[in-house]
Amino acid sequence: MTVESVRPRAPQQQQTSPLREPPLAGGGVPLLGHGWRLARDPLAFMTRLRDHGDVVRLRLGPKTVYAVTTPALTGALALSPDYKIDGPLWESLEGLLGKEGVATANGPRHRRQRRTIQPAFRLDAIPAYGPIMEEEAHALTTRWQPGRTVDCTSESFRVAVRIAARCLLRGEYMDERAERLCLALATVFRGMYQRMVIPLGPLYRLPLPANREFNRALADLHLLVDEIVAERRASGQKPDDLLTALLEAKDENGEPIGEQEIHDQVVAILTPGSETVASTIMWLLQVLAEHPEHADRIRDEVESVTGGRPVAFADVRKLTHTNNVVVEAMRLRPAVWILTRRAVTDTELGGYRIPAGADIIYSPYAIQRDPRSYADNLEFDPDRWLPERVKDVPKYAMSPFSVGNRKCPSDHFSMAQLTLITAAVATKYRFEQVPGSNDATRVGITLRPHKLLLTPVPR
Ligand code: HEM
Repeated sequence: MTVESVRPRAPQQQQTSPLREPPLAGGGVPLLGHGWRLARDPLAFMTRLRDHGDVVRLRLGPKTVYAVTTPALTGALALSPDYKIDGPLWESLEGLLGKEGVATANGPRHRRQRRTIQPAFRLDAIPAYGPIMEEEAHALTTRWQPGRTVDCTSESFRVAVRIAARCLLRGEYMDERAERLCLALATVFRGMYQRMVIPLGPLYRLPLPANREFNRALADLHLLVDEIVAERRASGQKPDDLLTALLEAKDENGEPIGEQEIHDQVVAILTPGSETVASTIMWLLQVLAEHPEHADRIRDEVESVTGGRPVAFADVRKLTHTNNVVVEAMRLRPAVWILTRRAVTDTELGGYRIPAGADIIYSPYAIQRDPRSYADNLEFDPDRWLPERVKDVPKYAMSPFSVGNRKCPSDHFSMAQLTLITAAVATKYRFEQVPGSNDATRVGITLRPHKLLLTPVPR
């Protein structure tokens, strides 16, 4: 039932136009429409859209795109079968990373692929990853030296890739390959975002140094994935992990899935898994430096739980404040700041007509900072997630992992490692930004600080 269907409408309107056309957002300019604003300052642009309506039309060059601006309607969009994963964001990702992985597939193939990967991410599967997460979290605190500047971008990427690769694709070879994956993914993500917002087509094929670097990194990423698959097969081993599940998966007809799909699946899991976690770790380190009072509370909480021994995976569920700091950091700086869908049929949202084929966008960043959902919306206040206050948060106003059939499979996996890393580093060090550090938000495929440089100061 649509909103319109329960509200009386003027008889004439009912005959000719049962649903309303969403209002056009203000601020468009001839030819480029809203594109220039979206390109110039996407976060501010997306944040102001709700002032124009719950669903608004945007003109991006010749194209009309719909933006959804309320928590309830983003939930309705994500849960409705009338929309699929598609649109410019996904098309450009597919072109570079493959068409057959779970992040870009739709329909029966997507359902089958989710069934294959889901067991590796189930809540009861996560404790098996505990020892690796602990090892990697504590390795950071021993690698970092008091007084020596930490480049948070490379360090966060490194630990995120290592945890994803070691936990999900296991194998000795991973330690050295994780480093290569790190380098390749950092370059690929930078180039992908550029290709998405400045689609210069053939110019990216010119033999310029930046294009060559991008192509080399992309080729190495695909080569690495081939090596990982080949080595697992050659080993003859079948540990109980995600890679084995992918290698043994069957298609809808009960036949083994093709090589391309195996390859694309590994890419589709490693790529979202590393960039998102790495960006979130960078923001958590920034938070520890900017809010020493919360860093101190984390240290006190960890010590009261551990009695002074190194924090362990099994402690994570008792670290309430640490967890709230992670959630609050994700609220204000969600790694995934924009999401898109495409309507598969003529449909509606909030009483507005959405035509088949329309692209729809929404921004978790805008939703999670909206003063209509959060008191003191821009304040960093982890206590808003305490049980007595969390009930004030409207439904779908905090969904950094999304909801519905495309919900991130890795919410438990990610929260466990983020909480453990935050606890481990905050217990050992305080952090200070050093000259040359720039923690302004850099908008790319994810949001992260431009260049966060911190000095660890022993506690
Ligand atoms: C999908 C966020 C970590 C694998 C998604 C989506 C979001 C998201 C919002 C849904 C996209 C949509 O609705 O269109 C995050 C955040 C993370 C994180 C905030 C960490 C802070 C990870 C990790 C992995 C992973 C660690 C794997 C190791 C995936 C996959 C999908 C996905 C495979 C596609 C699911 C599908 O389409 O069925 N993620 N993610 N993510 N994520 Fe994550």
